Amino acid sequence: MKGIILSGGRGTRLYPATKAVSKQLIPLYDKPMVYYPLATLMQMGIREILLVTTPEDEERYRQLLGDGSQWGIGISYCRQPRPEGIAQALLLGRDFVKDRSVALILGDNFIHGDGLYQSLARVRDHTTGAINFAYRVSDPQRYGIVEFDAAGRPVRLVEKPAKPKSSWAVIGLYIYDQRASEFAAALQPSARGELEITDLNQRYLDLGELRIEKLGIGNAWLDTGTHDSWLEACHYVQTIFHRQGQMIGCPEEVAWRSNFISAAQLEKLAHEMRASTYGQYLKALLA
Ligand code: TTP
Repeated sequence: MKGIILSGGRGTRLYPATKAVSKQLIPLYDKPMVYYPLATLMQMGIREILLVTTPEDEERYRQLLGDGSQWGIGISYCRQPRPEGIAQALLLGRDFVKDRSVALILGDNFIHGDGLYQSLARVRDHTTGAINFAYRVSDPQRYGIVEFDAAGRPVRLVEKPAKPKSSWAVIGLYIYDQRASEFAAALQPSARGELEITDLNQRYLDLGELRIEKLGIGNAWLDTGTHDSWLEACHYVQTIFHRQGQMIGCPEEVAWRSNFISAAQLEKLAHEMRASTYGQYLKALLA
């Protein structure tokens, strides 16, 4: 399975913080926001990743993430000239994905939870259809939501419903088989001029090939798109770090625990960052 991180967009809800810098480059507590979805893909065992971003921001992402070899993975880059929808990532990434299945994750998505990574790793063997993950939220009118029938089967996906019939929001991590780019190419832009990911997921649902995995109460899916939700996410990461001594969203740690890199490579990365608590955390992993 290959991975795509969609890391463009305008970030207008975080203005002026994101006026001169991409939203996914600003830190969530101690590391850039994009580290979190990147670490999630790596935790799924995905080692070939395409990062889609704006033409203005591409160079800064290259500076930050390089070619991924320092973490034992491959990262390549692609530009999205304008934010014309999440599903456009699958068109831009068509040659990258080729005939493989793909995990598409949004660059501002933050998920964390006990047992979550085992279930994500299981998804890697997925070969047909699509998988969406749903999370129960208190304000479903803000999200794309999934409605279920009495037997618990998904029946409809609705984007930002005024009167939601379900409180299960679809999170920004989508798994598709090799037909996703072809299906995305057949989508028409919505009223807001975007290729909607909900329409792509609906296509799989209409074919009876969309599976919904509900994330239970022990998991967190946090929004990072507004000032308050961003700060709450920072505090969440800090709280887990202080209470449990465990870092969330650390690509170096995932790379090492997954045997993508050796202890000597981790030591080198830790040394480069020895002045920060981040570097000291990496060093302590080896103790
Ligand atoms: P949004 O949060 O919906 O949009 P945004 O990041 O531009 O922020 P704002 O609403 O404050 O202006 O996007 C969700 C994620 O998807 C985010 O990581 C940006 C990314 N995205 C793109 O990269 N390209 C796109 O065309 C769209 C629609 C989103």
